[in-house]
Amino acid sequence: MVGFYSRLAEYYDLLYGSKDYRAEVDKIHQLIQKYKTSPDNDLLDVACGTGRHAEHLKKHYNVTGLDNSDEMLRIAAQRNPDLRFVQGDMRSMNLGKKFDVVTCLFGSISYMLTYEDLAKALEAVSRHTKRGGIAVIEPVFTEESFRPGHLSIDCVDEPDVKIARVSMSRREGNVAVLDFHFLVATADGVSHHSDPNRMGLFSLHRIKALMEETGFTVELVELGLVKEQILIGIKE
Ligand SMILES: C[S@@+](CC[C@H](N)C(=O)[O-])C[C@H]1O[C@@H](n2cnc3c(N)ncnc32)[C@H](O)[C@@H]1O
Repeated sequence: MVGFYSRLAEYYDLLYGSKDYRAEVDKIHQLIQKYKTSPDNDLLDVACGTGRHAEHLKKHYNVTGLDNSDEMLRIAAQRNPDLRFVQGDMRSMNLGKKFDVVTCLFGSISYMLTYEDLAKALEAVSRHTKRGGIAVIEPVFTEESFRPGHLSIDCVDEPDVKIARVSMSRREGNVAVLDFHFLVATADGVSHHSDPNRMGLFSLHRIKALMEETGFTVELVELGLVKEQILIGIKE
């Protein structure tokens, strides 16, 4: 068994090659500008992955990225040698400063598996957000929207690497399990990896309530990045 974000990190950008990070950042930037009243432009991207949002966010903000995977951070730093990346867990992060914007995008908040851990992560987001600053939390699926039994396939067809990733989703209580299986073909041969990706299923309205408890006024916004609404927290 390998974790997607450790041994398979090098394939992350290939698998999400069609995701339009530039267009997403344009929308997120407009949203931030609509709500932010704090004076500066320091932005923390929590669970920044390979730094693809950071690559576009840095045109508007002084970006710091945080992730718990060294392998993802290594790619993020190669892509953005001008930025600071910090290894850490979103529940316990302590960067010793507050930011004007804290983002947590592409469903990364769902790596919290319990409401207790979700509350810790949202408290940490709040601790890092200035008064008048903004938190942007993007769930990919929620308690309300998750449908078990969903089948998926993604393929990469590059000259030197071929990947087929298939999954079947199931539910174990409050956790969505996406059983990913990868077949990876390179000049070294074909390897198989399985990665049962476990993601917490939370109600959008309970995420909102937890953010409010940590000092945010929260709005739910349709941005059209993924199917879910995005939570915008305005720090009082
Ligand atoms: C779906 S990827 C999203 C990456 C990036 N935000 C993007 O949009 O491409 C989820 C990321 O969350 C990170 N992650 C998972 N659990 C985490 C935790 N407890 N603290 C910090 N990062 C975490 C993973 O390493 C991975 O990079």
